[in-house]
Amino acid sequence: MASQHPYPVARVGIVGGGQLARMMAKSAKRLGCTVTVLDPTPGSPAAQVAENHIVANYFEADALRKLVEQSDVTTYDLENIDSAVLASLAAEGHRILPDPKLLAIIQDKLLQKQAFEKHGIPTAPFISMPEPNQEAFAAFGYPLVQKARRGGYDGRGVAVLKSEKDWSTHLPVSGLVERYIEHEKELAVLVARSPSGEIKIYPAVEMVFLPGANVLDMLIAPARISEKQTKDAQQVAARAVTVLEGVGVFGVELFLTHSGEIIVNEISPRTHNSGHYTIEACVTDQFEQHLRAVLSLPLGDTTQLIPAALLNLLGEPGHNGTPLVEGLDEALAIPGVSVHLYGKATTSPYRKMGHVTVVDADLSRAQEKATRVKSLLRIKATVPENVPTR
Ligand SMILES: Nc1ncnc2c1ncn2[C@@H]1O[C@H](COP(=O)(O)OP(=O)(O)OP(=O)(O)O)[C@@H](O)[C@H]1O
Ligand SMILES: [Mg+2]
Repeated sequence: MASQHPYPVARVGIVGGGQLARMMAKSAKRLGCTVTVLDPTPGSPAAQVAENHIVANYFEADALRKLVEQSDVTTYDLENIDSAVLASLAAEGHRILPDPKLLAIIQDKLLQKQAFEKHGIPTAPFISMPEPNQEAFAAFGYPLVQKARRGGYDGRGVAVLKSEKDWSTHLPVSGLVERYIEHEKELAVLVARSPSGEIKIYPAVEMVFLPGANVLDMLIAPARISEKQTKDAQQVAARAVTVLEGVGVFGVELFLTHSGEIIVNEISPRTHNSGHYTIEACVTDQFEQHLRAVLSLPLGDTTQLIPAALLNLLGEPGHNGTPLVEGLDEALAIPGVSVHLYGKATTSPYRKMGHVTVVDADLSRAQEKATRVKSLLRIKATVPENVPTR
């Protein structure tokens, strides 16, 4: 007999109302689902698209209960939420995916690394570092990367220490230190996995960083690497999600070393910034794919139909307040350009305000166009900072 679903097909709950939830809500509507988001900000990016909005903090147990009780499936668009409360709600029988117990592991960088180690997933060698200690750092050896277990410190959860001279830049937090991995490229691979264990893997994407700064400049899809390297990256990413028994879409961040080795940096238990290009460039976008996975629907085709470059639209430095979008017409005049604005009411320096995907049959032309868009399209504020207001 043919499958039968009520209408709406499902009531989807999302903890977090940011841009990932916003894009997921759009895909949910297309699939005939309704959406409730839980987010502390009235008028959050996703609340503008969803049918319902619970205005509450991600750690409010009563509000989380309300969300899961009125949803057929609950998912999330960020990691920093109450995984313990969600785990107890899941234990009561509510469908919450990915599994909050897996979220609890991924939320904690030390537990995440230990899980990789236990399952033989290639990752940078590391040791636990509950209290940063100069001798222990030296004994582990430089160059190293220190990471906070959770949340980071002052928004900074990662410190790269090239030598003992950098000791003063360490973070005063509990965490781990790991070997600095010299790499050729940073890659990301999206993996979708359904409750039955069905897997679909997206192409490997290349993350291009601004020289000198730890700031993502552009994403190139597909990554400019060999077929074998692509296969290896996809295999390692799929294995990582499989051994963790993840359900949903996962963004797996990887290093490609100079000798061609693939090493897992970290996993996000959600759709990923590196996968936004899938909306324009792939048969099934990552947001619909995530919904298919958590709703136990068949997974979609991940084939990429056209090369793409992706640019984040960050708030211009020196600009705070009501956004002013400069250069939109000029950017949109370039063939292949799609602009996504997230509906955030205020901008601040480096805040993610949107993104641009450029598709072109020629990957290097897509990249050139994205570079052009970068200089044209800027998110400023209606009142620049140095102009006094009354
Ligand atoms: N072991 C390592 N060797 C070399 N570079 C590293 C290592 N770990 C992290 N990095 C660099 O630091 C960046 C941020 O690290 P990581 O992804 O672990 O932190 P994060 O706080 O989750 O960052 P984001 O939210 O931007 O993904 C990486 O993208 C990479 O450029
Ligand atoms: Mg990262």
